[in-house]
Amino acid sequence: MNTPIYDFVQNYINSDAARFHMPGHKGRAFLGCEERDITEIGGADVLYAPDGIIAESENNATSLFGSAHTFYSAEGSSLAIRAMLALAKSTSDKAQPLILAARNAHKAFIYTCALLDLRVEWLCPETPNHVCGCDIPPHALQKRLSEMAEKPDAVFITSPDYLGDLADIGGLADVCNKHGIPLLVDNAHGAYLRFLPGSLHPMDLGATACCDSAHKTLPVLTGGAYLHVAKKAPREYTENARKYLSLFASTSPSYLILQSLDLCNAYLDKHYRARLVACIHKAQSARAHAEKIGFSTLDTEPLKIVFNAKKSGYHGDELADLLKSHGIECEMSDPDYLVLMVTPETRDSDFDRLAQALEAIGTRAPIESHALSVIPPNAILTPRQAILAPSETVPRCEAVGRICAAPTVACPPAVPIVMSGERITHAHTELMAYYGHSSIEVIK
Ligand SMILES: Cc1ncc(COP(=O)(O)O)c(C=O)c1O
Repeated sequence: MNTPIYDFVQNYINSDAARFHMPGHKGRAFLGCEERDITEIGGADVLYAPDGIIAESENNATSLFGSAHTFYSAEGSSLAIRAMLALAKSTSDKAQPLILAARNAHKAFIYTCALLDLRVEWLCPETPNHVCGCDIPPHALQKRLSEMAEKPDAVFITSPDYLGDLADIGGLADVCNKHGIPLLVDNAHGAYLRFLPGSLHPMDLGATACCDSAHKTLPVLTGGAYLHVAKKAPREYTENARKYLSLFASTSPSYLILQSLDLCNAYLDKHYRARLVACIHKAQSARAHAEKIGFSTLDTEPLKIVFNAKKSGYHGDELADLLKSHGIECEMSDPDYLVLMVTPETRDSDFDRLAQALEAIGTRAPIESHALSVIPPNAILTPRQAILAPSETVPRCEAVGRICAAPTVACPPAVPIVMSGERITHAHTELMAYYGHSSIEVIK
């Protein structure tokens, strides 16, 4: 598979042209990567109206992912989520379309609802295990849709979630199909799922569109992401996706990121599948070793190793600090869990280091954990009304009874405890205390 963007930039560097164009670094100094950092000069194509090297590279990605079209984002899944929801809005005849969303949505979702004036109804899990988790089986979606007085304009599911849980996207897509509703998937953590021996990627399981943060699980620079539109999606999705990406995006996309996405195509095409299988075996061995010496891990998607820290005698954050003291930096920790992410680029020596660190740290008597309570959504205002209203920050203990303005989140995982527009209850503030949030933005 060719790499037209990377090759163009390499030829440009070799030509030693005098750079009388942006960026101001002129290809020199400080970081070392500046010579590769160009802008939309002649021949470099235009991300939001491509007919040259970017179009060619996106076509490569499209064939790798088996979509109707795969669009590049140089601004993460956050941009792709905004475009995906704008597409849902553009195919609705309502002024304020309704989205039925799993409750563990990333804050990019709720901000987009504010920007586009979307109303939200939430799908909540029967037994919540974590703010990041939201297990919605297909029969629960079917029940909910058949009970709703107003048909939603899209269903929005986050899978995989931060703790590595995968939703039954195939089953959920069947339900959505039956009701004639698009299924949009936040697959930020799952670009690699397409390359498993049996694909688990939303494009293969029946989603209408999805976003992938290429940078989270593939060897792509931070910010590199895809918006995939499925072959079965309404025609307008493919036709208008670029327009909606450009509505929210910078007019100066990073060519470092575009080159990275471009080079990644060749890697995915050639070596990746075998390396992914090898990596999954190593992750399985790492989990098995951790279990053998007494640590408790969750059954997750293959590229995450998630510790149920309390079962091993630690709070997640405490275990993260201990690992740090052994030179190991984790992806996320909280009072209950610790999340490690691996990819084929994880070195064997790093797997060894993890095993040695866990042996040195050892386990302790389990810490009892209490179950999270279900907090029913109680929206008073729409996300737009709440996020754009005058607001103030108040201490957690003074927030009960007030209406949440901007969502309070720790990033990662950036999943809000109370959503914008909802009335804050004592249960919310207890959960905020549990996750260490001392204040919250509320409407004045
Ligand atoms: C589930 C989920 N969705 C969306 C995003 C946003 O992705 P990006 O950082 O690529 O914009 C994140 C980022 O952590 C995420 O975890």
